[in-house]
Amino acid sequence: MITNFTKSNELRKKAHALIPAGGHTYTKGDDQFPELSPGFVVKGKGARIWDVDGNEFIDWGMGLTSVLLGHAYEPVLDVIKKELDNGCNFIKPSFIEAEVAELMIEQIPSAEMVKFAKNGSDGTTAAVKLARAYTGKDIVLRCVDQPFFSVHDWFMGNTVVDSGIPESTKSLTKNFKYNDIEDLKIIIDENKQQGIACVIMEPAATEEPNEGYLQSVKDLCEANNIILIFDEVVAGFRFHPKGAQYLYGVTPHLSTFGKSMANGFSVSAVVGKKELMELGGIQHDKERVFLLSTTYGGETHHLRAAQKTIELLNHNNYEVTKHIWATGKKIKDSFNKLASTLGIAQFMRIEGVDCRPHFVFLDKDGNLDMLLRTLFLQEMIKHGVMMQLVVPSFSHKESEISQTLEAFDKTLKVLQYAIENNKVIELLVGNPVKPVFRKYN
Ligand SMILES: Cc1ncc(COP(=O)(O)O)c(C=O)c1O
Repeated sequence: MITNFTKSNELRKKAHALIPAGGHTYTKGDDQFPELSPGFVVKGKGARIWDVDGNEFIDWGMGLTSVLLGHAYEPVLDVIKKELDNGCNFIKPSFIEAEVAELMIEQIPSAEMVKFAKNGSDGTTAAVKLARAYTGKDIVLRCVDQPFFSVHDWFMGNTVVDSGIPESTKSLTKNFKYNDIEDLKIIIDENKQQGIACVIMEPAATEEPNEGYLQSVKDLCEANNIILIFDEVVAGFRFHPKGAQYLYGVTPHLSTFGKSMANGFSVSAVVGKKELMELGGIQHDKERVFLLSTTYGGETHHLRAAQKTIELLNHNNYEVTKHIWATGKKIKDSFNKLASTLGIAQFMRIEGVDCRPHFVFLDKDGNLDMLLRTLFLQEMIKHGVMMQLVVPSFSHKESEISQTLEAFDKTLKVLQYAIENNKVIELLVGNPVKPVFRKYN
């Protein structure tokens, strides 16, 4: 049973004094975990991580979906180590940039040109800018059922955490519902007059598209001269190595990739139609778009990591992808079956797409229950499993799965007792976790 977080707690004080939020990603923040939890990781290997107190955990967060193969995955590390001997950043682009761009074009159905960057936010923002430049319109329609597209103002201004963002920016982003083509039609009609640049959405996130939905979105966009952007920062390479756009058979005008494409190393990409992408080029006589220009965009060893990761994903009839989908399904089915056996299925379930499922914890009135979620996390951590998210990787093998199922068994029995005896608050140490997107702390 893991209960010692002494070093983590000392370091927490220091980190919060030095760094706003104590770290560099809100989703990894202390407010996302129970009080009895590790604060800092020392190392990871495969699907396991070790914290500063020496505790070992199975990691179901996997770098917030970025680590698809496993932590410190040798074949990827080998190419990185080799490339580092050649230096990583020069006065001219490395030849590797064109080599990996060519690979992306072979890989992703809608890719005719490619620009690399270091994070997904820059990618989606660049795609939005390109759509605005190409259409000469300003309005962005974004799918409201999908939680996150970018840290930049066009998106954050559309959330409750909109402090510091001008009204003029906020008013340019509007929402539509996923899998509801009638809703999109209405929003397009309402904003057509003002001028719509793009529709941006994940092709699939917490649910898969209904039959024909993505094609109808594309048809609607084309009928109204709107650029369709698929944000595949999470879906790309996880749902399918050729992107969710390949899996669902609908190609957008622009799309963005990031997490998973380099097994946790920092590479993202905007890809799309040449007609749009080349506005960012220097060989045309139209008005220029300052597309993506970053000092580190072509960092060689990270591009090598992407190249190797994509190569491995294409191996053996997509065995990595098959493993990920099967692992997610096993975890989902086992959890739901256990909850139902214990008679607590109305309070908790894992739902969503098998390659990227998610937890739902509910109170007796059917509202989201953060207390119950936190108690679940607390008990799983005691049994050596960090499961704030359900992110299956190629390194979640039999031993990780069976340890997780054993932890489910012990944890859900505690939850059953807590629910039946109204003791959730009593058993929870510290505060419940909070939503990432909230106006006040
Ligand atoms: C769908 C989606 N798009 C874009 C981003 C932004 O990516 P990054 O954190 O690399 O900027 C995220 C991050 O979680 C995401 O989930």
